Amino acid sequence: MPRSNGSGPRSETAQRVEQAGAAHALDIEGVGRTFGAVVALADVSFSVGAGERRAVLGANGAGKTTLFNAITGDFPATSGRIRFFGEDVTDLPPHERIRRGLRRTYQHSLLFRGLTILDNLYLSCRGVTRRRYSLKRPGKDDPALRMAKELAHTVRLDHLADTPVSELAYGQQRQLEIGMALSGAPRFILFDEPAAGLSSVERRELIQILQALPRHIGYIIIEHDLDVALRVVDRVTIMHNGRLFKHGSPEEIETDPEVQRIYLGGGHG
Ligand SMILES: Nc1ncnc2c1ncn2[C@@H]1O[C@H](COP(=O)(O)OP(=O)(O)OP(=O)(O)O)[C@@H](O)[C@H]1O
Ligand SMILES: [Mg+2]
Repeated sequence: MPRSNGSGPRSETAQRVEQAGAAHALDIEGVGRTFGAVVALADVSFSVGAGERRAVLGANGAGKTTLFNAITGDFPATSGRIRFFGEDVTDLPPHERIRRGLRRTYQHSLLFRGLTILDNLYLSCRGVTRRRYSLKRPGKDDPALRMAKELAHTVRLDHLADTPVSELAYGQQRQLEIGMALSGAPRFILFDEPAAGLSSVERRELIQILQALPRHIGYIIIEHDLDVALRVVDRVTIMHNGRLFKHGSPEEIETDPEVQRIYLGGGHG
């Protein structure tokens, strides 16, 4: 007797799985990372929806940057799988993940200090298009130059576009790094402590830039400053000793006594 659950229902299931996967920007499944005997990350699983904004919090050494490195491939996971918009990227090199729309900023600055803001943004925009570099000055209608100018505006630096990076205040350099992460139509960005070292005025500027990003670009922000982190995300994930500790809304996390004790309470854990 012919069975009705042959290839039809199976492919429907596969489609559903694919659609569910596609609804997430990131699916992190049992991800671990060791460095010799050091277990920096252990069995971390969670998903982040497309367009979702997430904070990852945790004490120094909790494994936050290691998680970013596993997601980008800078230091790939040693166990588990990572899917980006439904596609398994665990074994892809970093540039292939960038090509798929994944971007990051680093805990420490990676700018060309002798070049201007616009030059840095221009190179970043050129870098994500597949054209070869050219030593000719860009023409006025060069699309990468247009994009670079738009990005300078997005990160509130257009008034300083022709200023060399070496003359910028620290906070302005961090704003520029965000602009560079925005080059080439990213789908998801990882921000590693963008508020570290900023003045309170610069922090306000950062909050406004993050809040004003196009809503379809999701991100994860690692941040020790809760005044920044809790104001720019939909959901919060806490890490502890390389593992997930808990998830919650910004309101839940802010008032959670356990979180207060182990993470916010002064670090005497
Ligand atoms: N490249 C590496 N080589 C060896 N050990 C590493 C490396 N990267 C991270 N670790 C170790 O992994 C653990 C987690 O480090 P990680 O940098 O991910 O923490 P973090 O949560 O980002 O901390 P912080 O808030 O200080 O930036 C630490 O014990 C760290 O020493
Ligand atoms: Mg870190």
